[in-house]
Amino acid sequence: MITLIRKKKKLIKSSSLPKESLDILSSKSHGQPLVQAGEVEAVLLHNDQGKPYLYMRKGDEEIYRFLLENFHEGAINISQDRSIIYCNKKFSEMIKSPKNKIIGASIFEFVSNNQFKQLESFLTSIESHPAKHAFRLISSDNSKKDVFFVGQPIKTEGNVGISVIIIDMTKYKLAEKKRRKALLDLAKLNKELQKANKAKSFFLANMSHELRSPLNCIIGFTDLMYKDKVGAISKAHKEYLKEIAISSHHLLCIINNILDLSKIESGHMELHPALVNITKLITEVIKTMEPLLHKKNIQCAVDIDKIVVSQSIITDSDRFKQILYNYLSNAIKFTSINGKINVNVYPQNKKFFRLEIKDNGIGIKKRDISELFTMFKQLKMDTTKLYQGIGLGLALTRHLAKGLGGEVGVQSKLGKGSIFFAILPYKLGKHNY
Ligand SMILES: Nc1ncnc2c1ncn2[C@@H]1O[C@H](COP(=O)(O)OP(=O)(O)OP(=O)(O)O)[C@@H](O)[C@H]1O
Ligand SMILES: [Mg+2]
Repeated sequence: MITLIRKKKKLIKSSSLPKESLDILSSKSHGQPLVQAGEVEAVLLHNDQGKPYLYMRKGDEEIYRFLLENFHEGAINISQDRSIIYCNKKFSEMIKSPKNKIIGASIFEFVSNNQFKQLESFLTSIESHPAKHAFRLISSDNSKKDVFFVGQPIKTEGNVGISVIIIDMTKYKLAEKKRRKALLDLAKLNKELQKANKAKSFFLANMSHELRSPLNCIIGFTDLMYKDKVGAISKAHKEYLKEIAISSHHLLCIINNILDLSKIESGHMELHPALVNITKLITEVIKTMEPLLHKKNIQCAVDIDKIVVSQSIITDSDRFKQILYNYLSNAIKFTSINGKINVNVYPQNKKFFRLEIKDNGIGIKKRDISELFTMFKQLKMDTTKLYQGIGLGLALTRHLAKGLGGEVGVQSKLGKGSIFFAILPYKLGKHNY
């Protein structure tokens, strides 16, 4: 590190420094123009551990030379006839040649010959203004080094010359190469992960499919027995069959959700856009939920804005119903007896409408909100009450809304209730997942 010092002020405290205190002008040099001539009064050099080891307080010219000599990049001065009139220690190391062999030689001797043209125009341009350019330096042993020339005109005793700082690009190129490799490795890893994830989803989709068939068989035969279709059964048997039916339906619901999510993740979910009657779809879903609403004496009010009703809505009716079903079943589940639920639909903007399900249930803590809509995520409750479910509904809803060209969101207050919503387009384009 190089410290440039000017004027007398009380700033530096160090035993190795002269008694008089000085003002630090600049604490690091990185090849930039360091100081204006006349500003610097002294120079302080530090070793690798940051300790000062050399202090100079001389004329500007000497300080400038001193800085160049100890500079960590190459530095040369070139006369108008393109010969090198000065080079620092670093440049001599770069070229692997002693200074006395470099001084007096043409700069063209140290640059790859296919770059002569660029070098000449670079040097010509510097005579009027500062410039920079990438070159390939040729060392005395013929090895090549990628460098960057940063030049500016200098005036010495009336003559115009050129001062060039030569930055060794090897370490930067190496770092860039490493960065690119890391990016490539990351992209490869990402691809592998995606592949593995797809394989997992494919497996789950197949498994779920295999599980559904025997389960439907259980549900079918249970139903037959429950309805006395295979002969009369006792009251106790009927009770047990009812429990089997409820559990089987619940299991089927979980498997269906897993199957849907796996299909989406493995890119196999098909959408069937068609003209729909939104009021009809909402009524149908609420009808299937009526027993649950009734059981908890929850009121469910529906309000569909006229503007939305007047639109020709093209969407996938089953997926739309699934979104509403998932939100509504949660609203019922997390709202206590005698609660209230509102299903509202109103325009979001010219192209989108908003479906929202509002409840006055248990609500959600602010810090938990960001965790919603992720697979298998059920929030920790402060109460000991257990709620059924495995935490797939919201994750599935998010995917479904995305598939319909929309998005989901939530607003909630703990203890007050929640509003879960989906913003969906009036017209879903024909596309698959
Ligand atoms: N209306 C709501 N009010 C309060 N908390 C809710 C509400 N909806 C969802 N949550 C919270 O978000 C969690 C995740 O909901 P999600 O629908 O994904 O899963 P689930 O209902 O627990 O199970 P599943 O839907 O798979 O049957 C819930 O377990 C609950 O903690
Ligand atoms: Mg749910």
